Amino acid sequence: MPARLTEFLARRRRLLALLVHAGPGPLAGLLAAHLVTALAAAATSVATGWLLTGALASSAVGEILLPLGLVAVLVLAGQCVEIAREPLDLLAARRIDGALRSAVRDRVARPSGIAHLEDLDHATDVARVSELGGWRTRTPGTGAVGQLLLLGRLTSAVLCAVVLAWFAPLLAVWLLAVTLVMRAGIRRHWVRLSRTWDEHAGARRRAEYWADTLTESPAGKEVRLFGLGPWLTERYREQARGWLTEIWRDRRGILRRQWWTFLLALAAGFAALYVPGAALAAGTVDFGGLITMVLAAWGVFAAGAMGHEAFDIEYALGALRALDRLDRHVAVRAGGDRPAPDSPVRLRFERVGFHYPGGDRPVLDGLDLDIGPAEVLAVVGRNGAGKTTMIKLLTGLHEPTGGRITLDGTDLADVDLTSWRRRVTAVFQDFVHYPLTVRENVALGAPEAGADDGPILAAVAAAGATGLVDRLPDGLDTLLTREHSGGVDLSGGQWQRIAIARALFAVANGRQVLILDEPTAHLDVRAEAEFYDRVISAVSGVTVVLISHRLSTVRRADRIVVLDNGRVSESGNHGELMDHGGEYAGLYRLQAGRFAEDTEGAA
Ligand SMILES: Nc1ncnc2c1ncn2[C@@H]1O[C@H](COP(=O)(O)OP(=O)(O)OP(=O)(O)O)[C@@H](O)[C@H]1O
Ligand SMILES: [Mg+2]
Repeated sequence: MPARLTEFLARRRRLLALLVHAGPGPLAGLLAAHLVTALAAAATSVATGWLLTGALASSAVGEILLPLGLVAVLVLAGQCVEIAREPLDLLAARRIDGALRSAVRDRVARPSGIAHLEDLDHATDVARVSELGGWRTRTPGTGAVGQLLLLGRLTSAVLCAVVLAWFAPLLAVWLLAVTLVMRAGIRRHWVRLSRTWDEHAGARRRAEYWADTLTESPAGKEVRLFGLGPWLTERYREQARGWLTEIWRDRRGILRRQWWTFLLALAAGFAALYVPGAALAAGTVDFGGLITMVLAAWGVFAAGAMGHEAFDIEYALGALRALDRLDRHVAVRAGGDRPAPDSPVRLRFERVGFHYPGGDRPVLDGLDLDIGPAEVLAVVGRNGAGKTTMIKLLTGLHEPTGGRITLDGTDLADVDLTSWRRRVTAVFQDFVHYPLTVRENVALGAPEAGADDGPILAAVAAAGATGLVDRLPDGLDTLLTREHSGGVDLSGGQWQRIAIARALFAVANGRQVLILDEPTAHLDVRAEAEFYDRVISAVSGVTVVLISHRLSTVRRADRIVVLDNGRVSESGNHGELMDHGGEYAGLYRLQAGRFAEDTEGAA
């Protein structure tokens, strides 16, 4: 068998194999329904011909009772199956989609790092497998059911051709060939349309982004204040027009090329009537035979219809290709199997280099940094210096592209990341506002620890959020989202306190490295002033990595390092760095000086 045909059949088999996700009961029902549909046309042609022959030969009802009953049963069965098939098709399609979406979730969650989440192609493929479609449902499930439908149609056509061949073998072959050629032509059109859809996946997503920005709440304030409505609408139109123009051109092309399908259909239709008519005139068939021939010919012909299932199938095959690519994008890190040490560790960056995929310059470049057990290390540096990137590496979310990070001398690459992540916690600069209760928001820091009042309240108190929680309508059980009734939203600083409580809850549950990326950025002046005593001094025996632009937050750290050009440019405690008179001293004087000037000016 030619390789292309083998590949074609393998792909179709794979699509059909998805049907097992429908479950045994629905699958059995579905197969039975499609089988009945496939058999119905051929059986009806034979039974009707038989009925007519009987009716013309004798006027006694008793003589035609059997074919009459058979025709009635076939018509009834056809109707019943038609009614039952639709919900079964839908059920099977949705179950298949559910199974594939969980396969996607599994592939997205499997890697321990986050590089794949920042990869645009990966995001496009995830969306491609999971999408629901616009003008019609375009999912792998719909495609798998469509493949079954197509198989049924082709079986029906072949059976009808067999019936027809009994009377006129040449006509049967000719009609079957015409039908298959018409189907192949239709398929080519749909393949093209499906490809055009895929090629414009990026533009479609961008168009959806503009539409969502316009209609959803996060951007609502700015959209109104800046008067962005018409601008966004125009961007959406422009983006949508870009790819729709091509889709419409494809569709017009499909319609224009229908003339040859029309001619073929005309020739086939003529033959389908002429040959039986000539056979009747020549006396080789009776009226019953004529009817059987015409109905069987029609049955062959029906498989050539321009069903949408051809598009569904092509589109679903595209989704399966995207699913396969997901595995290729994601290099699941083999990871180490050495458990992370369970006592405070010495962390060391050894000539660590890192650049983001596609990035044109390294973010970290030969970074050497030693963080002692239970040390409080502050990291400062300009915007974009690589501070956040550094902690993504330390938490194993990205791997260094050069050098290594060690925990008590063991390469982080050899350490079991799950066990390391039980030792480290972080408040990220862009920490998540989970639309859950306060209790859950805090408990997520150590999901294994439960969410009893005592430890949660202790973490809330340590983060200075007791007053805030007391004022909430349901205390710890207040839902922190406006999306549900009874929920409330918090201010930026209030959210930050909840995020700090989450990290402190994690520390109370065994995390020995606490990373805080801009933890005071949203705090008021009093809370910022209290922050070091309240949070940092209170977590004894824990290594703290504290990143902040507010130098008053970091000045009491055991050691402060300045990150510049991808490496440490200054290191020492506040006093040492001030004496050194470098960048830190300059920045500190700048910040402190502003206040001094303001105070002098006011005096
Ligand atoms: N996901 C990413 N993909 C590509 N480049 C990135 C990504 N995240 C950050 N960068 C780039 O890496 C550099 C360092 O970013 P990083 O977030 O580490 O800086 P930072 O020191 O934390 O800055 P800030 O003080 O503003 O928080 C920046 O130039 C940024 O543009
Ligand atoms: Mg940052």
